[in-house]
Amino acid sequence: MIQQDFMKRIAIISGTDRKGSVALRIAHYLKPLYEEQGVQADVVSLEDFPLEEAIGGKYGKSLPRIEAFRNNVIDADGIVMVIPEYNGSFPGILKLFIDYLPFPGAFEKMPIAFVGEASGAFGALRAVEQMQLICGYRNAYIYPERVFLQRISRKFNKQEGITDEFIVELLDSQIRGFVSYVSQIKELESA
Ligand SMILES: Cc1cc2nc3c(=O)[nH]c(=O)nc-3n(C[C@H](O)[C@H](O)[C@H](O)COP(=O)(O)O)c2cc1C
Repeated sequence: MIQQDFMKRIAIISGTDRKGSVALRIAHYLKPLYEEQGVQADVVSLEDFPLEEAIGGKYGKSLPRIEAFRNNVIDADGIVMVIPEYNGSFPGILKLFIDYLPFPGAFEKMPIAFVGEASGAFGALRAVEQMQLICGYRNAYIYPERVFLQRISRKFNKQEGITDEFIVELLDSQIRGFVSYVSQIKELESA
């Protein structure tokens, strides 16, 4: 385990509000793997996004519950987005969540890593790349090593987690690399 002096916390976003989602299970699978690297990792599920407060298009208004929810993400040192593919893209709730972040500062210089998951053969490649465009527009530091979990029902189950050795290796590499990336960015920022 590497002692991380310059970073305190990673937020792992489960990018859907679908009940019983695989994304949330993957986020919980990743959490202890980040903790093994010496960082605090908090799962933020969009199932808990206070959607009712946004109904009616309340952009720019004081929204205490949404602000409390979003602060858990934007106060983190780095973000991991677990993104399922819905209709060739990411879930709408994820865009709504982003649209209720403070503009334009929310993702400014925020390190962000991506894990895609889908039942299809491309493992949410489209969804992740579309989200990369948005995060890039918002000046995030996009971590280049992405992981795509295709045919997800065959590769992940509740009992064992990821059952494919190659994917386990890819995730391990992403986690170690992302922790080092965030730590180096924070060290530079504190210099
Ligand atoms: C609304 C909806 C749209 C979907 N669209 C796609 C799609 O375009 N491509 C794909 O490969 N899978 C698609 N799927 C399947 C999901 O990617 C797959 O079931 C995934 O594991 C769902 O993630 P979740 O459990 O985190 O919601 C869709 C599922 C839902 C619920």
